[in-house]
Amino acid sequence: MRILAIETSCDETAISIVEAQGNEKEAQFHVLGNALLSQIELHRQYGGVFPALAKREHAKNLVPILEAALEEAELLHEDTQAIPEEMHDKIAEILSREPGLAEAFFAFVTECETPDIDAIAVTAGPGLEPALWVGINFARALALLWQKPLVPVNHMEGHIVSALAVSDGDTLRIENVALPVLALLISGGHTELVLMKNWLEYELIGETLDDAVGEAFDKVARMLELPYPGGPEISRLAEQVRSDAGASEEHRLSNIDLPRPMLNDAACNFSFSGLKTSVLYLLKKTPDLTEREKQHLAHEFENAVTEVLWKKTARALEETGARMLVIGGGVSANTHIRRSFTKNIEEQYPDVVLRIPSAALTTDNAIMIALAGFYRALRKDFAEDIKADGNLRLAQH
Ligand code: KG4
Ligand code: ZN
Repeated sequence: MRILAIETSCDETAISIVEAQGNEKEAQFHVLGNALLSQIELHRQYGGVFPALAKREHAKNLVPILEAALEEAELLHEDTQAIPEEMHDKIAEILSREPGLAEAFFAFVTECETPDIDAIAVTAGPGLEPALWVGINFARALALLWQKPLVPVNHMEGHIVSALAVSDGDTLRIENVALPVLALLISGGHTELVLMKNWLEYELIGETLDDAVGEAFDKVARMLELPYPGGPEISRLAEQVRSDAGASEEHRLSNIDLPRPMLNDAACNFSFSGLKTSVLYLLKKTPDLTEREKQHLAHEFENAVTEVLWKKTARALEETGARMLVIGGGVSANTHIRRSFTKNIEEQYPDVVLRIPSAALTTDNAIMIALAGFYRALRKDFAEDIKADGNLRLAQH
């Protein structure tokens, strides 16, 4: 099955084309084309993602990104396509909310053959609704024109299944999945522990009561006057302290201790807003940090976050008896988190298999949407009328 997948839930416009084979027990994926345009540079001036701008950029970028993905997949063949008037009107209506999108769409599709694909998958949520809508309407227009089934995908399911994938040369494989699987989903909008009891059936084990962990990274980075997104910046500073550990120098933050919120609380929920506030107070008390002091603060912050994430995950492993642990979402790109979890699993839960996505699959992309779309298509979870749902849930308590 060849899937074209579209992701526009946040600040990445991404389309990928993936050839998928197999079934729920054993599947292989070949990425034929993958085009992604990050808007990070544009949003940086706002210190975060600005929804109206994200929506406009998606509308501007979708056609070129589609062209690039098809081209890479060698599925772009020139041809003149006449579109029947009734269909033309319907598509124009679907795309009417995005100025200029219908024009760009028709200019492109009337010049190329219907590509050899079997289904179109698109992120339906969670995410920024205005941004989601652009991708959904674009997918609906393509599905109508090319007469392909449409598969709505939950972005978080994309993070989970892509985290299960093991890369083997240029093939991704999802096999030997030992259920139940516990997933720690950590991104800019989410911090959740989700149990996949049966394949694609989820139960929420814990979640953040306030800020998402990526959000905490971004906010603390902002307090330190580091650019958006803050996760990689904090990580870079913190790693500098680790790489010269033992260097004994005295400065105002050499002995700081940030709190580990809810560390010993009996549930698997998280809270990061108190940690963020502690950083704020600390900065008020100790203004004008030197570069070295910033590194120490980033280091302590990252340690606090990692410790809380691990402790809650360990509790969830105990409670659920999960046989496999996956970590997904943008924050799973974090070196210290990856290293700590790998070490802790080896030492404390040697029977649990840990899978963390490869670097290219950690932050938002369309390959993960194609993977989840494949499983949903196998189950014939098709839909013609997809609605954006900013708060789409994967699982309930
Ligand atoms: O999954 P993602 O790309 O988008 C959302 O769905 O939110 O996650 C983005 C988040 C941002 O908050 C970013 O700061 C964080 O992931 N992030 C990191 C790292 N790389 C990205 N956080 C910590 N360390 C990193 N290396
Ligand atoms: Zn994400």
